[in-house]
Amino acid sequence: MSEKPNEKLDDCMLSFVEKISVHHTLPSLLDLKSSFLGKEGLLTALFKGVAGLSIEEKKIFGSKINELKIFIEERVLQTMQSIKIESINSKFQASQVDITIPAFENKIGKIHPITQTIDEIVKIFYKYGFDLRFDREIETNFYNFDALNFAPLHPARGMHDSFFVKIPNETEGDYLLRTHTSSVQIRSMFNQQPPFCFLSPGRTYRCDMDRTHTPMFNQVEGVLVEQNISFANLKWIIEQFLKEFFNGMDITVRFRPSFFPFTEPSAEVDIGINVGGEIKYLEVLGCGVIHPNVLQNCNIDTTKYTGLAFGLGVERFAMLKHSIYDLRDFFDNKKWWISHYGF
Ligand code: PHE
Repeated sequence: MSEKPNEKLDDCMLSFVEKISVHHTLPSLLDLKSSFLGKEGLLTALFKGVAGLSIEEKKIFGSKINELKIFIEERVLQTMQSIKIESINSKFQASQVDITIPAFENKIGKIHPITQTIDEIVKIFYKYGFDLRFDREIETNFYNFDALNFAPLHPARGMHDSFFVKIPNETEGDYLLRTHTSSVQIRSMFNQQPPFCFLSPGRTYRCDMDRTHTPMFNQVEGVLVEQNISFANLKWIIEQFLKEFFNGMDITVRFRPSFFPFTEPSAEVDIGINVGGEIKYLEVLGCGVIHPNVLQNCNIDTTKYTGLAFGLGVERFAMLKHSIYDLRDFFDNKKWWISHYGF
């Protein structure tokens, strides 16, 4: 070792600082590191020289070399990190990603209140033994009207304010967007013999638009065909269901005689709510004992079986349960009402 170990140490340090200060790539940085700390490196050579020094010098000089080694390692590490950041940035620039754009807010979605309401209705009827049936939304006149005992020119067809659709090259007759899910009941009953009971939830369409009507709305219809079924069974099921659905709410239930071509006798059910001491009624449901013509249309033996049927408007139920004033709010795609009504 030279007589001037300190000078050699200073030279080594200056040379390192000079070399690390220029621009580096990762490989050139690793080369630089090994030219000082590697087997043949400058600093390694200084370490080897320590062996020839006196004990006193060893102490002083040895700790100085160690300090320089730590210095070199730290600077190499820092430079390595800035090379990595630089390369990430240049990749972003190359792909023209603007990393200054604020991130999207991640809001957690919720089930739509109409779907929540359908689920609630289905769960209650499921307990009574009703399963589910689904079918098409574009129907023929036959399944939507004829098979349900609507006479060809009967005004009841007019009450359904149908959207008729033209399907090129179709021969089955007039097509329309189904006005009720009773068409699903017909399609199912064609393929099954009693006893059975099931629900048919789904979207339905009528040309109507005001506070309590929208051109598209959801229905859940139910049917039960068995021996000895009467209006009394129907009344019990409907009342029991309403009690469970509006559990704990102050409502009154009213059965009103009505007419449907597919049920006889028929009734409409209104729910009354107390508004400032006065009971206000909203019609929510149609029901009745299935007309024998309908069962016969589906090849069911009417000397043996009778049935009950009902159909309810899901939006009306959701409105009553959650005190929603305007049915159109469900579909206008505004978010305000979600927080407004606390869903
Ligand atoms: N399908 C009827 C409607 O949409 C409702 C209903 C179903 C009425 C079953 C009676 C029995 O208006």
